[in-house]
Amino acid sequence: MNAVEIEEAISRLAEQPSDPAEFPYAFLEAFGNKATTINRLKSGNTNKTDIEGAVLQFNNIHISVCSTGEVLKTLGKLKNSPATSRQKAKFILATDGEEFQAEDITSGETVVCAYKDFPDHFGFFLPLAGISTVKQISENAFDIRATSRLNRLYVELLKDNPEWGSAHRRHDMNHFMARLVFCFFAEDTDIFNGTGLFTSTIEQMSAKDSSNTHEVISEIFRAMNTKVEDRAAAELPRWADTFPYVNGGLFSGSTETPRFSKIARSYLLHVGNLDWKKINPDIFGSMIQAVAEDDERGALGMHYTSVPNILKVLNPLFLDDLHTKLEEADNNPRMLLNLRKRMARIRVFDPACGSGNFLVIAYKEMRAIEAEINKRRGETGLPSEIPLTNFRGIELRDFPAEIARLALIIAEYQCDVLYRGQKLALMEFLPLDAHNWITCGNALRLDWLSICPPTGTGVKLYSDDLFNSPLEQAQIDFENEGGETYICGNPPYLGSTWQSNDQKSDLEAIFDHRTKTWKSLDYVAGWFMKAADYGTKANSIAAFVSTNSICQGQQVSILWPLIFKTEHEIAFAHTSFKWANLASHNAGVTVVIVGISNHAGKTRRLFSIADDGKNLAKDIENINTYLVSGQNVIIQRASKPLNELTEMPKGNMPYDNGYLLLDYTEAELLANNNPKAKHFIKRIIGSAEMIKGIRRYCLWIEDNKLNEALMIPEIFQRIENVKKIRAASSDKSGRALAAKSHQFREMHSAKNHTIVVASVSSEKRSYLPVDICEHETIVSNLAFALYDAPLWNMALISSTLHLVWIKTVCGQLETRLRYSNILGWNTFPIPSLTEKNKTDLTRCAEDILLARESYFPATIADLYDPDNMPENLRHAHERNDEVLERIYIGRRFKNDTERLEKLFDLYAKMTDAKPSKKVD
Ligand SMILES: C[S@@+](CC[C@H](N)C(=O)[O-])C[C@H]1O[C@@H](n2cnc3c(N)ncnc32)[C@H](O)[C@@H]1O
Repeated sequence: MNAVEIEEAISRLAEQPSDPAEFPYAFLEAFGNKATTINRLKSGNTNKTDIEGAVLQFNNIHISVCSTGEVLKTLGKLKNSPATSRQKAKFILATDGEEFQAEDITSGETVVCAYKDFPDHFGFFLPLAGISTVKQISENAFDIRATSRLNRLYVELLKDNPEWGSAHRRHDMNHFMARLVFCFFAEDTDIFNGTGLFTSTIEQMSAKDSSNTHEVISEIFRAMNTKVEDRAAAELPRWADTFPYVNGGLFSGSTETPRFSKIARSYLLHVGNLDWKKINPDIFGSMIQAVAEDDERGALGMHYTSVPNILKVLNPLFLDDLHTKLEEADNNPRMLLNLRKRMARIRVFDPACGSGNFLVIAYKEMRAIEAEINKRRGETGLPSEIPLTNFRGIELRDFPAEIARLALIIAEYQCDVLYRGQKLALMEFLPLDAHNWITCGNALRLDWLSICPPTGTGVKLYSDDLFNSPLEQAQIDFENEGGETYICGNPPYLGSTWQSNDQKSDLEAIFDHRTKTWKSLDYVAGWFMKAADYGTKANSIAAFVSTNSICQGQQVSILWPLIFKTEHEIAFAHTSFKWANLASHNAGVTVVIVGISNHAGKTRRLFSIADDGKNLAKDIENINTYLVSGQNVIIQRASKPLNELTEMPKGNMPYDNGYLLLDYTEAELLANNNPKAKHFIKRIIGSAEMIKGIRRYCLWIEDNKLNEALMIPEIFQRIENVKKIRAASSDKSGRALAAKSHQFREMHSAKNHTIVVASVSSEKRSYLPVDICEHETIVSNLAFALYDAPLWNMALISSTLHLVWIKTVCGQLETRLRYSNILGWNTFPIPSLTEKNKTDLTRCAEDILLARESYFPATIADLYDPDNMPENLRHAHERNDEVLERIYIGRRFKNDTERLEKLFDLYAKMTDAKPSKKVD
């Protein structure tokens, strides 16, 4: 369950009449406990309490329902109960159905409230559901509650008005929700006369049976679309006439409203009664947009981008610079004024803006700086010179685009109240401006220069409709010709296998005339290319959050030379980090942030997260395309190792539709039926067999033994089958293999031993899967093989250094690591190794194998399970890392960033790569 679902569940619980016997279980259920867990608690099996009638769940909570007036005393009892500490309870909770008290045992924080109000404190109890990002949640508690309530209303309205959920009415439904959000905000912030005017008018004027709720709302909306001078003619009812003229497109067009059931009406009143002053337009937007998405409603926007993450993009992009300039200006009025003027001409452009969170944060941060300038200049109360319309966006889906505009409008009002006071803010708020500065459309197809023109000669907006303007009217004049443009955002990432045909053709339109290899690019690459093209025409810098795949493996050599061609370089970057969110499973993707500019300064700032979790920032000369400090080298495929490493070909390809392969039972049957067949059966391993210990076999027939093999009918038949499929092959080399249908395409094997390397591996393992097998075992094409290689090669493959290199230069298959001999092994930079180094490394590899041996028959998957890796095996690997890293630099590396810097440095030397800034 996520926080929104939990909020919903406990709100429902608090609305029901309290049932003392059931309360503890219902409470635990609301926090995601399964029915089986609850049943075991009820039966007493897992209830560890030592207090009559109470419920104690191990490592969680001790709950007691008591008689009226006994709450405080009962809480004391729970606190002093030996079972509470013995069973490591995190919380204690006592209630008599009227009063509610609870305590967080670790922090000592308490909650004391009326029983009906305990859902207000849902954030306090979220650790019970394993959600630990409580700080963010408690800060955004309002947004979570409001989303949860709006969600209930939305679902209920669709039940009563199914046609409003159909494709052609979905827009109307979403528009209706946007209007409601505006009204809830406006009635709590004095934008409407008096407090709660919207909700109380509906409560008073609509019948309790809800039959005319839609008519009442519709009349209110009509009022908000009627100018003062047109009011008399409009014949508005007196109660609607008290609402101000709002328009700005939000209330123009049809005022048709969905019909309300009694339940929907009561939900509406519930939502309205929340305190909407507390709305956080950056967070709320991302959450509310999920309400309208069928497939996202479950998660309810809990994967929204957190403010600190957004600042990781905006700070280095331009906010840090503004802060520095503010500091430099100190109290100098002229410098302060210049900074204010500069800010008034800054445009922030998010071409995948969703509900506008990057734009809202940028706006709020800039208003804060402007307010500080005004304070230092003694000009508090001045109207802001930062036009809201300078915060431009493109968004594919219409509801988020609509919410983005609303969020910016709300942010502007909140900033005005904060920095200029309520009275001035109110005076200028209504009617809303009708400018359309968030465009709903496909960013990869639209011309960014016309949506965010650098010269200020854009077309004037013709219509006064903020929310329904056709695309070609989306341009407005900037009052800030010649200013800077900062492009930012978190565009969608989609690997090539997941892209729809439309998305592929979006990329084709951008890349096809530049490279024929664009098909492997991630969808996000389109945004980088368009931003670089935009930068050739305007004074701009761009930074996006992105999948790290564009800075790894084969995409590097496709995308970055094209970006460099536009004279752009990496101006700053953040190396891979987890994009954490508030979803309960909190998986989080691994992302990077890359900033590109064609006028980057001399130093480039590289951000990373150290092994101890601290944020690091380093100023360096150049950031290369793998986001490593160093020259702009692109790792080129090499057909042979560039140094003294042993060659590592792929294993043998059967090319057989399975006829040369046998599972355990088939192999046993064949050998039992015909003992001579044993000579032709060998064990075969690929990645899966090696990692999971699966036993598989194959027919392995040398040319000089063919006649003997053909005497065995089953083998004869299998060879015939292979011949058939090879002869029918559509490619020439496949057909050529038909002449040797008793054999694999390659027939490589070892004299003594083979080191086997998995071609795909889980990214969760701390080391790459590698093993050694005796010469009789054949390696399939689903793994790599080093035949009769010295064992020190295995020490290299088992090292952290090699893992980091492979991750960086080979890229990933979905999330798994993909090993490549030509990109990762043949290019792996090593210093020249002395005999002593080789002996030491051989010893390390032996120690790793010995440590594994002691757990026989555990598989590689068992042994390298990140949560259960045996201590002695981990130790053997650490020792291996220690020995190897000392060979490189005489000590252990501090972190992966340092490892990569050294490896790239060695690579450049090894290949004698020219220290060029641009790579074509
Ligand atoms: C990862 S979200 C980021 C949105 C927002 N900044 C946030 O953090 O919630 C990416 C957004 O890009 C939008 N999008 C996807 N494809 C697009 C396209 N071709 N053009 C414009 N927007 C697109 C999606 O609808 C989504 O709102």
